[in-house]
Amino acid sequence: MKEIIEFIRNRESCPQLTAPAPNREEWLEILTAASRAADHGALKPWRYRIYQGAQLDQIGECYWQHALTDVPDLDPCQRENFIKKAHRAPAILLVYAATEEHSKVPEIEQIMAVAAATQQALLAIEAKGYGAMWRTGAVAHTDKTKVLLNLKSNEQIIGFVYVGTPKKTQKTIKEVDLEGRIEWFDS
Ligand SMILES: Cc1cc2nc3c(=O)[nH]c(=O)nc-3n(C[C@H](O)[C@H](O)[C@H](O)COP(=O)(O)O)c2cc1C
Repeated sequence: MKEIIEFIRNRESCPQLTAPAPNREEWLEILTAASRAADHGALKPWRYRIYQGAQLDQIGECYWQHALTDVPDLDPCQRENFIKKAHRAPAILLVYAATEEHSKVPEIEQIMAVAAATQQALLAIEAKGYGAMWRTGAVAHTDKTKVLLNLKSNEQIIGFVYVGTPKKTQKTIKEVDLEGRIEWFDS
């Protein structure tokens, strides 16, 4: 069990990713592990989509359209650069929450469960020897993006998880600083 703590303790994001990404069988393994996240009411609010290859342009288009919202007269020549942003990894795992009205489980808790599943996915991806980087940004939270990705009004993006093989193998384990973040009530 010590190894599991060590593994979790050393998890890190990988911004630089290359091919290969997990294959279908590995994705199923990863998403099965992710879906064992704590889940109030067992509502299973997590939904997953895997974008790869040319399909990554769909996410790139969201970046471009979001940029146009901010700066409507952006030069169309810039579009390619925004599309490229979605190609920083060979795959993007889109995790979103499909929430429902529930007498005991408010929407925030359903969203929390999907965030927990996303964290489990990060661990499972790393356990399979791949790397990942959870990204969002304002683009993840706009109606325009929801329309572009064909998401319903009760569905909310939790993360664009960029997934692939880490370009760098060197681990840079960050100092975990709990100073001022724990209070003990045990005397
Ligand atoms: C909900 C959420 C959204 C995030 N969105 C972004 C993002 O858009 N861009 C980014 O550079 N990092 C984002 N991060 C942070 C990275 O995923 C990562 O945790 C951070 O770079 C620290 O690296 P580490 O995970 O190795 O400690 C996000 C993290 C979370 C939990």
